[in-house]
Amino acid sequence: MCVNRCICTNLTFRELIDRSQRESLDFEALRVRTGAGGECTMCAPYIRAALRTGRDSFPVLNESELDALTDSQAPDRRSE
Ligand code: FES
Repeated sequence: MCVNRCICTNLTFRELIDRSQRESLDFEALRVRTGAGGECTMCAPYIRAALRTGRDSFPVLNESELDALTDSQAPDRRSE
């Protein structure tokens, strides 16, 4: 089982990464424009990690694993 989308909006992490890059949107701006991460909020840590790392699919992670992923030294792909 993998996590690759916001279920509430049915937007994939790939779509969100692409839109973030295309429109220079950070997580909060993306949330406001798309609703992804702003409904039930369960996908929010995954979206943050996707934007941070460029990954569009994740295993189901516990909270500490998500924290480690979003706090990692991985470059923010929007600035590349
Ligand atoms: S799964 Fe993304 S806001 Fe609910």
